[in-house]
Amino acid sequence: MVKRTLATQIPPLNNNNNSSSSSSSSANNNTTHSAPLPNHRELTDEEKEFIAPMIRVDQSGEVGAYYIYKGQIAVLGHDPKLRPLLEMMWDQERGHLELFSGLISEHRVRPSLLRPLWEVAGFAVGAGTALLGKEAAMACTEAVETVIGDHYNDQLRELQAIRNPNEQIKYLCKTVAKCRDEELEHHDIAVDHDARQAPLHSLLSAVIKQGCKTAIWVASRV
Ligand SMILES: [Fe+2]
Ligand SMILES: [Fe+2]
Repeated sequence: MVKRTLATQIPPLNNNNNSSSSSSSSANNNTTHSAPLPNHRELTDEEKEFIAPMIRVDQSGEVGAYYIYKGQIAVLGHDPKLRPLLEMMWDQERGHLELFSGLISEHRVRPSLLRPLWEVAGFAVGAGTALLGKEAAMACTEAVETVIGDHYNDQLRELQAIRNPNEQIKYLCKTVAKCRDEELEHHDIAVDHDARQAPLHSLLSAVIKQGCKTAIWVASRV
């Protein structure tokens, strides 16, 4: 069994020296300041532009995740062993969605215009894979949480490249890290519950991962 190892995913939250990756360099270019700024400062216009698509795509992703678990529970909720597990993960997704919805409001970010699509698609993917069986539902969770975990790690690297982060940036980092940790717990739960025994696991996983990556690309823009 291969599990995600959280400790190797990202540097510590307060480490601002990681600028080796291309994404980090990009973040630095966008957000470097010529002089140190106090932590209680306001966000710069560049930082506002930088974090807006992050918050937009994260809220959209959490909408999708919430509806994936809702769809899974609609189909598999009769299973007395599975239901508590699915409800636990569903509750955490609800918490993630509340966190990013709060950030949407705080930073006055335009939400994705495609929220109805994320709701319908999430439910369809969750229910559809659950109809193929418990293992396929878990394979769906494994694939989705792999992509989302990587996505959150990419964001953390970019956020950590911001020099002199203010309290809002630090809070965003903590929020992303918390969600990342819980997504990877969901991944491990899915692996522990036979995700890799699903029929056509590799194909199913590849299709769902590509769908997630496409949704991330779209949701950050639309
Ligand atoms: Fe989530
Ligand atoms: Fe999750």
